[in-house]
Amino acid sequence: MAENLIISAGSKEEKYAVLYGQVKALAEGENDIIANMANISSMIHQTFGFWWTGFYRVCGQELVLGPFQGPLACSRIRFGRGVCGTAWKEAKTIVVPDVEQFPGHIACSSASRSEIVVPVFNECNTEVVAVLDIDSAELDTFDQTDKEWLEKIARLLYPIR
Ligand code: SME
Repeated sequence: MAENLIISAGSKEEKYAVLYGQVKALAEGENDIIANMANISSMIHQTFGFWWTGFYRVCGQELVLGPFQGPLACSRIRFGRGVCGTAWKEAKTIVVPDVEQFPGHIACSSASRSEIVVPVFNECNTEVVAVLDIDSAELDTFDQTDKEWLEKIARLLYPIR
């Protein structure tokens, strides 16, 4: 497998474009979801230096912590709870510019100031099977560019084969 190159130069858009190509190549060569979640969280985290980057998987009525990079996080989140549980419930991406303004935000770390949560859909695009959660230690980190590219990256986990 190709070495993961850390992309340090260029605009956010350019970094995502390169990252997307790397993730696509990775996902095409490996079909174990946990292995791919682990490497994808590492690649995103290394590229952008976020505070916390990882996945929660849907297990029954809860999200259960999956592969991640960053400090200790809560292990389980109930349906509809916090940003992650809300993204799962609504089956859509949630961008939170200031976590203190999000009612019910679950503070796994007091250093987290802004957040984006992207749902991961199954291969039929009918069900949320996981969420990709990214926390930043700065306010207002995530915008439409992050939303669009992270949704594209999330779709690589369960491609329509
Ligand atoms: N803040 C999230 C919980 C997960 S941690 O940030 C890793 C939420 O409100 O769902």
